[in-house]
Amino acid sequence: MKGIVFTEFLEFVEDQMGPDMVDAIIDDCDLSTGGAYTAVGTYPFSELRDLLLALVARSGADPAVLLRGFGGKLCATFTSGYGQYFAAAGSLFDFLGSIDDHIHVEVRKLYPDAELPSIRVAARTDDQMQLDYRSERGLEALAEGLIQATSDFYREPVSVSMAKMSGPTGDFVRFTIDRQAA
Ligand code: HEM
Repeated sequence: MKGIVFTEFLEFVEDQMGPDMVDAIIDDCDLSTGGAYTAVGTYPFSELRDLLLALVARSGADPAVLLRGFGGKLCATFTSGYGQYFAAAGSLFDFLGSIDDHIHVEVRKLYPDAELPSIRVAARTDDQMQLDYRSERGLEALAEGLIQATSDFYREPVSVSMAKMSGPTGDFVRFTIDRQAA
């Protein structure tokens, strides 16, 4: 997993719970880097999972709530660092529909070793979109936080629900995104 996810995660923990919590969870985990990640490096995903579990153990917070909050932070990082994608898409549904075929494709060109999920549009009308998330990493709560924060960015309010599905190609999570009156 790319280092930017680690550096942003530790910054998220610091913002929410302070620098002592960052030091404590780094101490709790057996990390290859000792907790010193660089944004362009690549590190085992297991280290992010361990840091999250350590944070859950110390804070008592729900891991899904933490990941959703982290998704909000990551979205803010993407809107400032990769604003061209948000400008090019122009609207929430067009943006979400462009992740798999465009945004994550560009990410893969920049970082060939990135571990990206598949995010396919299953159905779309003016008022509703269904997005299927497939990943070995099970970070659907992170995806939910990213979707919600992207909706805030475009000022297009939505409600988001998730359902676990299984199909011939394996398990996935289906997001149903319903437009709400502004
Ligand atoms: C301009 C916007 C975006 C950029 C630049 C971007 C880029 C990235 C990068 C660099 C990673 C890390 C890959 C790795 O660690 O190896 C990642 C992972 C991920 N992205 Fe995106 N992303 C964007 C938008 C989104 C949105 C809106 C979603 C929401 C559906 C999303 C869902 C995810 C998830 C859930 C992961 C974690 C890996 C996994 O679940 O398997 N991304 N993305």
